[in-house]
This record gives sequence, structure tokens and C-alpha cells, in this order.
Amino acid sequence: MPLVTSTEMFKKAYEGGYAIGAFNVNNMEIIQGIVEAGKLEQAPLILQVSSGARKYANPIYLTKMVEAAVEESGLPICLHLDHGDTYELCKDCVDKGFTSVMIDASKHSFEENIKITRNVVEYAHDHGVVVEAELGRLAGVEDAVNVSEKDSSYTDPDQVQEFVTRTGVDSLAIAIGTSHGAYKFKGEPKLRFDILEEVGKRLPGFPIVLHGASSVPQYLTEQINEYGGDMPGARGVPEEMLRQAATMAVCKINIDSDIRMAVTATIRKYFKENPSHFDPRQYLGPARQAVTDIVRHKLVNVLGCNGKAFN
Ligand code: G3H
Ligand code: 13P
Ligand code: ZN
Repeated sequence: MPLVTSTEMFKKAYEGGYAIGAFNVNNMEIIQGIVEAGKLEQAPLILQVSSGARKYANPIYLTKMVEAAVEESGLPICLHLDHGDTYELCKDCVDKGFTSVMIDASKHSFEENIKITRNVVEYAHDHGVVVEAELGRLAGVEDAVNVSEKDSSYTDPDQVQEFVTRTGVDSLAIAIGTSHGAYKFKGEPKLRFDILEEVGKRLPGFPIVLHGASSVPQYLTEQINEYGGDMPGARGVPEEMLRQAATMAVCKINIDSDIRMAVTATIRKYFKENPSHFDPRQYLGPARQAVTDIVRHKLVNVLGCNGKAFN
């Protein structure tokens, strides 16, 4: 089976009340760790590449490794550009074999966002590639995404129908209180389910995407607190909130920070216990296993897409 788009995945997820996991990939161990989890749980997967990942790994390496993952696993896998910020970047990914791209023009005005997104949709659809866009702005800091709290804004449900109709986009990321990175909530975690519900009413059957959805699961907290360096106290989105969102219009849930924390805490622990080891396979092996463990946890306990690869 070749790489697939997310169209069929989202249709089934919407109808089945679950979500597809979109996991960020930056190197071979992360790809292998995620795909092993997908195999064990028979789950469809979205593997996503940010512009930071492209710079780090060179897109051709990532694309070829994801193609190898498809061949080796036989799973339905979609290769997606995460937070593409220009038409040119999206076009380049379409030309390089991605099956899905995100154009994130959410920092622009509503009209400008529509214009940029519409252009990407035209090119991508001509090449059989699907497009995700964003309306509203999530707070948070990562490599290419850096939005302060004061510049963030919730999605306005009154705008979504017009946005989707005028752009022809295939899925829409909305801002309901999640944020990028390891520290999401200062006080009580709160998601605006009222906005999600309204958006769902305005766009019946249409797939909604949740970014900034790492949850720092309970089972990792101890390890992160002990070996996480500057990560202790990381606070994610409670898993039950993500589960609830997945039963509503949310069909794609983006997870990156949890994988980063699992990898880093595992490697720190390894070196604390084995300070003289120097073969990268000795510490990257456990790190890869940690990726598998966390992704399995998400597939089963957060997304509910286990067993859905071929059903
Ligand atoms: O939302 C952004 C993703 O987590 C990718 O982060 O830009 O640091 O690669 P990055
Ligand atoms: P987290 O930082 O919560 O993992 O979000 C990742 C994300 O939204 C990637 O686009
Ligand atoms: Zn994101």
C-alpha cells in the first residue's frame, strides 16, 4: 500500500467517535518507535514533519524513511507537513511526495489567511494532496511556532463556515485553549468545549484538528520529574478532555512534546545508570522503545484508534 491521504481516516474517525494521532517525526528512531506502536495496536497513523524537522533531517531522508515504514508495516500512513507557513513550502512538500500539508496562515488577517490557504488548496488538490488550515491562534513556543499568550486567540465559530467554503480546505485546526510545548496551563486546565460544539454544528461531518495536545501522562510524570532536566512540572491537556474532544468533531490530535519528553527522560536515565557507555545504539534503543510505549498509550487511552487500521 502506498502512502495515503487522511480523507478516509477522518471519515471513519468522525463516524466512529475517535481521532487519528498525528505524531511529529525528526529521525529514524522516532519514526520506528511510532510505527511499531501502530503495528502493535493496528492503528492508522499520521506522521508529520515541521519546517524545523526538514531543516534538521533534510526532507528526503524523512520521506524515504516514512516510505520504508509504509512498506515494512503495511499500515495506512499519511505523510503530513506540520505548520507550513508559506505557499512555497507547501508546494515543495506536495512535489516531494507528501500526501497532506498544513498551511498555517493563522497569523494573518482573515482575508489574507483565506487567500493564502486557497492558493495552497488549488495546487495541492491538483496533485491529489489534502490540506489542513488554521483559524484562531494557539499560544506556545516551539522551533518555528512562537506565539505569546497575548497574541493567541480562540477560534470564532462565526467564521468557520465562510473560511471552509471559500478555501476548499479539507480539515481545520481550531484554538480552544490547548497550546504548544510542555507547559500549557498555569491554573486549572480549561478547554472551550462550547467553541468546539459550535464549530461542529456549523460544519457537520467536517474534520477538526487539535494542535498542542500533549498530555504528560501520569505514568511518565515520575520519570520526567526525576530525569527531565528543565521539564519537571510540565502540564499537559488532561487525557479525559482529549478523549471527549475525539468523540466530538476532532478527528486529528497532534502530539510532539510528549514524545520529546519521553525520549529525553529515557536517555538521561540511561546515562545516569550507565555513565561510561558510548555506543549510540545503547541509549537510542531504549529511547525508541519509550516512543513506542508512549504512542501505544495515546492510541489506546487518548485517541481510541487502536484496531482501526483496516476497519
Ligand atoms: O507545533 C509544532 C511542532 O511541535 C513542531 O515543533 O517546530 O520545534 O519542530 P518544531
Ligand atoms: P504539543 O507541543 O502539545 O505536543 O503539540 C504538537 C503540535 O501541535 C504539533 O503541530
Ligand atoms: Zn501544532
